[in-house]
Amino acid sequence: MSDYDTGIHAAANRMLRRRALPGTPDGTAPPWPAAQFGLDAVPVYVRADESVQRAVLDRCAQGLLRESWLIERGGMEFCARMVLASDDAAQRALYSHIGADEAAHYAWLQPWLPPLTPSDPFNDFVDDCVRTAGPQSLAYLMQVVLEGFGIVHYAGLASACLDAALADTLRRMAEDEALHHAAGLAVFDYRRLGTAERAFLLDASYTFLQMMRSGPHAVVAALDQALGGLDANALPGLFDALGAAHGSTGKLARLRRLMGQPGMENLVDALAQRRAFEPAGSDEAAQIYRSLR
Ligand SMILES: [Fe+2]
Ligand SMILES: [Fe+2]
Repeated sequence: MSDYDTGIHAAANRMLRRRALPGTPDGTAPPWPAAQFGLDAVPVYVRADESVQRAVLDRCAQGLLRESWLIERGGMEFCARMVLASDDAAQRALYSHIGADEAAHYAWLQPWLPPLTPSDPFNDFVDDCVRTAGPQSLAYLMQVVLEGFGIVHYAGLASACLDAALADTLRRMAEDEALHHAAGLAVFDYRRLGTAERAFLLDASYTFLQMMRSGPHAVVAALDQALGGLDANALPGLFDALGAAHGSTGKLARLRRLMGQPGMENLVDALAQRRAFEPAGSDEAAQIYRSLR
């Protein structure tokens, strides 16, 4: 790292210290138990050696943490765009406060992640939206929908987490996301959406829901890698066994409620007509999994 970069990190760290937290990873056990991912119902996992089980749990945990960390990173860029697009100083201050929270969340998760953290399709999708969408579309997608979803997502991860410092971090993030979601509800005004923005929101929401309805791909990928390959014919059964813990039906219902803001009924109806709120069956989930490998 150059002197210049070191200076930027040191300045940010001095500010972060005033915001408390950064915990230290426990490191002795995986942060979440097998039941968190539904692995306790999967025979190939239950029968595997302890070292293989540990490798699967570590990969699953890394997947969850990486996804969150990248979302927080995208959140900083989102806030920067919203600061520049704000109508007045009050809105600029609001997004500056939120951006500072996202920068803290990004730093808080870092101790639990390996140094090289590649992106994935979901994070690429969020980054694309942040770069291309207008402010009202972004307030809807990022704050009303995604941060609204994040409240329950982070709270659920915190309550099942076996690492005390990480659990505290996630709990605190859930509280912050609730404030960000409330800010999004205050900013979003469906009357300010034009035809092009409505068309964009339909496309983007559909793409997002397609990812959400396709099942626990990351858990299957973790098993696939740790076991050195899975029998393609066994994939549908695996998605079936993992399905209950993944809770696709509940997640999609929650997203439907979040998307169904006043003035957005047409969007929800159009998505429902395209069956976007229905989880993929195990055969379809297996087919999507194979097509992405
Ligand atoms: Fe955040
Ligand atoms: Fe947030």
